Amino acid sequence: MSKEKIILTGDRPTGKLHLGHYVGSLKSRIELQNEANTECYIMIADQQALTDNADDPEKIRNSVEQVILDYLAVGIDPAKATIFIQSQVPQLAELTLYYLNLITVARLNRNPTVKNEIKEKNFESSIPAGFLIYPVSQAADITAFKATHVPVGEDQSPMIEQTREIVHSFNQIYHTEVLVSPEIILPQAGQGRLIGIDGKGKMSKSLNNGIYLSDTEEEVKRKVMEMYTDPNHIHVKDPGAVAGNVVFTYLDIFAKDQERVIALKEAYEHGGLGDVKIKNYLNDVLQEFLGPIRKRRAEFQRDPGYTLSILKQGSDKARERAARTLDEVKQAMRIQYFS
Ligand code: TRP
Repeated sequence: MSKEKIILTGDRPTGKLHLGHYVGSLKSRIELQNEANTECYIMIADQQALTDNADDPEKIRNSVEQVILDYLAVGIDPAKATIFIQSQVPQLAELTLYYLNLITVARLNRNPTVKNEIKEKNFESSIPAGFLIYPVSQAADITAFKATHVPVGEDQSPMIEQTREIVHSFNQIYHTEVLVSPEIILPQAGQGRLIGIDGKGKMSKSLNNGIYLSDTEEEVKRKVMEMYTDPNHIHVKDPGAVAGNVVFTYLDIFAKDQERVIALKEAYEHGGLGDVKIKNYLNDVLQEFLGPIRKRRAEFQRDPGYTLSILKQGSDKARERAARTLDEVKQAMRIQYFS
């Protein structure tokens, strides 16, 4: 009955999803949900989002609605993947409490991703305790489903490492094999985090350099026209650079006709091909990709009862699965008193 590969992954609901999310994770989830021997859990991590947004619950609440629409619009299929909301599975918080006994504060302070985030958010002098321990709650997310594989970006590898340490400690201390040590699945080369339209950093909401899955046709066009190309390519007749040119980065990923992209690159490097032409082509390519997504998104948006029922069913199923693991955990810890 149980499948060979169990996938657990998720997103913090802090905004709408953009092309960077598509390239870095959504695309591979769609592939994974279609694998015959793979069971997929996709979690909207509202509790984790609250660890640094406790004062803005409205933002998290609204983002949960946006994220489920983005998931369904790109083709994550609730018949193939269990989509659920973290806070609706209280077993995860209970597991977190037990795992916290197996990790030191010093170890928590060493997590490089958390360290970075603390710097970015200017949390140095006042780190919310819940934020410092979110990697432990992430270990609970993963182990509750006995996930064998966690597809995430490179920045998440410290979380998987900490999870593995917790699994190892737990199984050793309580003489059990209840918990499963997960493997990370990193994006394939070139499919990591997508560069933003400004060419400066990875696409992100905080840098305001993203193209969102829900952007209108006009917004997409405006963003493509603003896109960073080669600042030294001033006259159409001048040779232009392809490396670092965001328009070509996106064409490499999204254009179906890669022969045409190769020809355009040659012409651009040779000189005589203007930015407006390559941007118009990229605009066509992105509109063709995003058009059907936008249309499906609008359809789901018209039916909030349906999206809510998907989340409810998924959360019910996830809760049942997590409860079974929690029972085993409590048994191993000798705190199962009445059964
Ligand atoms: N930390 C992930 C992010 O920042 C979200 C997340 C929470 C997650 N729990 C998880 C990812 C468990 C994979 C597995 O997006």
